[in-house]
Amino acid sequence: MNATDALPSFGQWVDDLLEQQFIDVQGWIPAATLEALAAQLEHDRQQGRFRQAHIGKGAGEQMRSEIRSDQIAWWPDLPTDPAQRDYIQALESWWTFLNRTCFTTIRGGEFHGACYPVGASYGRHLDQFRGDRSRVISVITYLNPHWTDADGGELVLYTRQGEVRILPHWGRTVMFRSEELEHEVLPGRRERRSITGWLR
Ligand code: OGA
Ligand code: MN
Repeated sequence: MNATDALPSFGQWVDDLLEQQFIDVQGWIPAATLEALAAQLEHDRQQGRFRQAHIGKGAGEQMRSEIRSDQIAWWPDLPTDPAQRDYIQALESWWTFLNRTCFTTIRGGEFHGACYPVGASYGRHLDQFRGDRSRVISVITYLNPHWTDADGGELVLYTRQGEVRILPHWGRTVMFRSEELEHEVLPGRRERRSITGWLR
C-alpha cells in the first residue's frame, strides 16, 4: 500500500507481507487517536511506568544494554484507556481479515509503549522467543512529530531483497511476520517513541 493512502486495503497489506515481507502504512489510525496515544505514553512516562527493556523470557531473560537500550511500559491486558482500545480495535479488523484469508488464528495482542533515549539502539533480532511461536505479526506505530532524516533512529529490516530503512515518522505503522523478519533499531539523535505490539 502506498504510504499516503488514507484507507487500509487489507488485501494489499497481505500482498505486501508476502512480496516485500513488511507493511508500511500511514494515515489509517485517526489523528485524534494518535494524539491521545502519545499523551497516554507521556503520562505513563511521567508516572514512572517505563522500565529498562530486557531480552529473552523466563530463565533466559537478561538485561544487556549493549543489545537493547530502550525503555518500555506494558499496556494492561484489557486497557481502559479509550485511545488504546481504539488502536486495538483498528488492529482487530485487520487480524480478523488475516484469519479469514490466511489461515492464521490470531486472537489478540500484547502491546507496550517504547522510548529510546538519544543514542539508544536495539541490535539485529527476531521478535520471537526460543521455543515460543505465539507471536505472529509484529506491529510498530511511531509517535515522533517532525522527525527528520538527520534524526536517525531508523528501523532496519533485513528482507530477502536487501536492507530497508524506515524512519520513525509520526503515525507511520510497520508490520511484519515475527518469526520471519530480522530487524534492528539504529541510534537516534532525539528521543524516539513508539507503540510496539505483537498479534498472537
Ligand atoms: C522491538 C523492535 C522496532 C522499532 O521492540 O522488538 O524491534 O522500530 N522495535 O522500534
Ligand atoms: Mn523487534
